[in-house]
Amino acid sequence: MPSNPFKFGKIVYGEHFYNRDKELAKIKATLSSGNNVALYAPRRYGKSSLVAKALEELEKEGYLCVHFDFMSVYSQKTFMEYYSKEILNSQRRFDIKAVISRFTSLVKNIKASVSFDHTGNPEFTISFIENTNKEESLIDIINLPEQLAGEDQKYIIAFDEFQEITKLNGENFEKLLRSQLQKHENVSYIFFGSKPHLLKDMFNNKNRAFYNAAYIMNLEKMAEQDSISFLQNAFASSEITLSTDMACYIIRKADNIPYYIQFLAHQVWEFAMIHNNNTIEQPMVDDALQSILELKNDYYWELTNHQSNHRKKLLLALSHDAKELYSDATSKKYELGAASSTQKSLDVLLNEGIIEKNMNNYEFADPMYKTFIKHNL
Ligand SMILES: Nc1ncnc2c1ncn2[C@@H]1O[C@H](COP(=O)(O)OP(=O)(O)O)[C@@H](O)[C@H]1O
Ligand SMILES: [Mg+2]
Repeated sequence: MPSNPFKFGKIVYGEHFYNRDKELAKIKATLSSGNNVALYAPRRYGKSSLVAKALEELEKEGYLCVHFDFMSVYSQKTFMEYYSKEILNSQRRFDIKAVISRFTSLVKNIKASVSFDHTGNPEFTISFIENTNKEESLIDIINLPEQLAGEDQKYIIAFDEFQEITKLNGENFEKLLRSQLQKHENVSYIFFGSKPHLLKDMFNNKNRAFYNAAYIMNLEKMAEQDSISFLQNAFASSEITLSTDMACYIIRKADNIPYYIQFLAHQVWEFAMIHNNNTIEQPMVDDALQSILELKNDYYWELTNHQSNHRKKLLLALSHDAKELYSDATSKKYELGAASSTQKSLDVLLNEGIIEKNMNNYEFADPMYKTFIKHNL
């Protein structure tokens, strides 16, 4: 059996990546002119993949590039450790001994050492000297790329899930980071993440440290036409015909979100192989969708059961595309009560990432979960 051409869940590269040409060009141009970018979109719209592609191309142009994910950082100390390692890693093709000694001279109170795995790759270890001024070391680490960079060796640093920095001692860390980064002349930053409302506030609110610190970009859902061609070509490479209508059907079920397009197409492809079909018809797409719902059934019930009754009613209303949530008619139909309760429930659902605000509409982050709610509540 040939291998499934659809990939989901991880950063996608090469032939698995499509579209986003304009965004890619804008990101590269902004970063390489020495400016910073802030990029936001809900989860699974393809931010990490897009930024990975930008870094890959910028690396070929000679930039030193670092991708740093704040998702796994839970303290300032872990930030210092992980970030140091990433910066050291970005220097691994240089003379390692010299790299370690530069690190030691640039960062106070922290030691770096290196060992090599069986393939000869360097693995760095960071250790802290106890009872020393952590803030001093933190500042040194933040400035490390600027210290290592030069006029002809610039750095591009990508901070993934950047809104998570607010967990690290709140505003202090944010202010400290900004005050150092703004002095960097040979490093450009791209800040991005999956909580649009939090990121927008960080960069648009006059009272926040990162106000005006970056060119702000919003990544949209996939353009339908590009998704149609991608799906048709990928199926064609396995000698399977996908009509434009069926491609549109898949894309609509996935609400134009790249992750769900690939996820559903992956399942459809699997079914086509099992049943030896070389044309995709609607019943097969419906079966594929059904199998995804079955796969996720336990998780979806768990997610639903920890919601209050009011939020369940609101989810039901949203699953039926209820317009004007605050209107009397909608409130009556779904028993939502006062507008203030609806507002409160919406806030919780937004914060949990179950619902996203798109323009002035509230939408399910996961279109499959929307179907689940429609069928089960
Ligand atoms: N440009 C793209 N081309 C094809 N698939 C994509 C693209 N961007 C995202 N995807 C799909 O969406 C999934 C999630 O992408 P990712 O970059 O991790 O999104 P995010 O960082 O916004 O959560 C990928 O695993 C892939 O299936
Ligand atoms: Mg991501």
